[in-house]
Amino acid sequence: MDLSNKILSAKTQKTSDSPASIQEPIDSTDPGVSQAAHVQEHPVLQQPNNGETRPPTLFVIFGAQGDLTKRKLIPALYNLAASGHLPQEFAILGVDGVFMTTEDFRLNMSRDIQELSTRPIDSSIKDWLLARLHYLSGDFRDPHTYEDLQTALTQLNTQYGTQGNYLYYMATAPTFFGEIVQQLGVKGLVINDKDYSRRVVIEKPFGHDLESAQALNHTLRSVLDESQIYRIDHYLGKETVQNILVFRFANGIFEPVWNRQYIDHVQITVAETLGVEHRGIYYDQAGALRDMVPNHLLQILGFVAMEPPNTFDAEAVRDEKAKLLRAIQPMNPIDVLQSTVAGQYVAGNVHGGQVLPYRSEENVAPTSLRETYTAMTLFIESWRWEGVPFYLRTGKRLNKRVTEVVIQFKSAPLMLFRKTPVDHLTPNVLVIRIQPDEGISLSFGAKIPGPQVQVGNVDMDFQYSKYFGDAPSTGYETLLHDVMAGDATLFQRSDNVELGWSVVDPILKVWDSLGTHAIHNYAAGTWGPAEADALLTKDGRKWRNY
Ligand code: BG6
Repeated sequence: MDLSNKILSAKTQKTSDSPASIQEPIDSTDPGVSQAAHVQEHPVLQQPNNGETRPPTLFVIFGAQGDLTKRKLIPALYNLAASGHLPQEFAILGVDGVFMTTEDFRLNMSRDIQELSTRPIDSSIKDWLLARLHYLSGDFRDPHTYEDLQTALTQLNTQYGTQGNYLYYMATAPTFFGEIVQQLGVKGLVINDKDYSRRVVIEKPFGHDLESAQALNHTLRSVLDESQIYRIDHYLGKETVQNILVFRFANGIFEPVWNRQYIDHVQITVAETLGVEHRGIYYDQAGALRDMVPNHLLQILGFVAMEPPNTFDAEAVRDEKAKLLRAIQPMNPIDVLQSTVAGQYVAGNVHGGQVLPYRSEENVAPTSLRETYTAMTLFIESWRWEGVPFYLRTGKRLNKRVTEVVIQFKSAPLMLFRKTPVDHLTPNVLVIRIQPDEGISLSFGAKIPGPQVQVGNVDMDFQYSKYFGDAPSTGYETLLHDVMAGDATLFQRSDNVELGWSVVDPILKVWDSLGTHAIHNYAAGTWGPAEADALLTKDGRKWRNY
């Protein structure tokens, strides 16, 4: 599907796709509806329906008892149902090791939807969805589970008319991804056919380094065709990340200046105030670099820096992304020492509350050398970007939650202002705010009123919520919708994943060999270690202030 259509359809969904698949009309007192009504009135959104198809689907969730299922998948499916994006021929089969009946599962999910939904609940839609929920208990390693699964699939497929379209979602621990797919393969449950589809969604993390990612790709590809594999990165489900492409390529005025002649440098910041929460076991193995860079930050970088694809088709977009990732200058050990920083938080104050040091978090080793912060400078070896630094940073327990891309342009020449009090010109800065306070702003110099020539910095600002209303979403809606529709544009292809790991692997190796010397402490609630500031000051630049 065309990405621009996708975006338009999301905005017009309440008007053009009123929930035909749900028996009851949506309650007009639902604030989500009135918001959509506001959206409908906006002239920007008066676009034709994009002729969306909603293929019948049997949605199988491995890991049905997990957090992802209750916090994201089920609420996202509810939102899709509420906005009329699910087919009538639809059912969900949850699979997990915990013994439970379908009735129990429905009760739990009913409670979770109520608690975790991103929008007010319409009971008729909730009931519609719950009636389509089924549960199968079984150990993922046990071949009998897959015999039971085969029986359940046949029965549900007939009951709901899902026409043999099975979507398997791996919401399990990563150790099970390969195993489950192989077992599905043995039972012949992932054989595609021209009359129906069998697709598999693989959650993150996809491997923990290049070698393990290649091994997992190899296992998946021994059973599945690449076109059946949907490697998810939830950052690509964010409207504001998708909008980077539309912003760049739907506007004639930005593309001509989107290169080394006009751009001084780019900053990508993904800052979190949260610590590792209850994920110490995973996080103390992974760290900030593995957890965020090869996936989320490089996805953003890809959209910011890639060449325009010929179309928004999955392969065209993913080809360009692969070209871009391949063009990132590889780091040798000296580069790693000079261009990367690893940090770990110690005790500090976040949002007015004292927080523990990383090493005292639950399930974290008391002598852990794992980084909770990383910053780096990357260069892209291409005609467009030669010599333009891309500064990336991400960390936990920072001062503020903010994900932003900052494009700093080169300054205008000062000579014109020689005989004025103006002694410097501030460069134009384009800020793409991914979250929160989603929007885009462009700063420029303006004359401060008065007899003397003085230049002040002002902003042109676009806020998503002001134009399009607050979209009540989990961030998974578009991605789930796209897998059902067979659109892989927003999913990672095997080469994209491996290229991401190739960027970070050399860094991991050097940090490992440095041991304690690699890690710089920072107090929780600050902006990371001083060494990360030095990364920019040595280039005569500084991080954007928040
Ligand atoms: C996940 C990471 O992929 O992304 C988490 O594992 C991180 O550690 C999260 O907190 C950030 O996602 P978001 O959407 O909150 O920015």
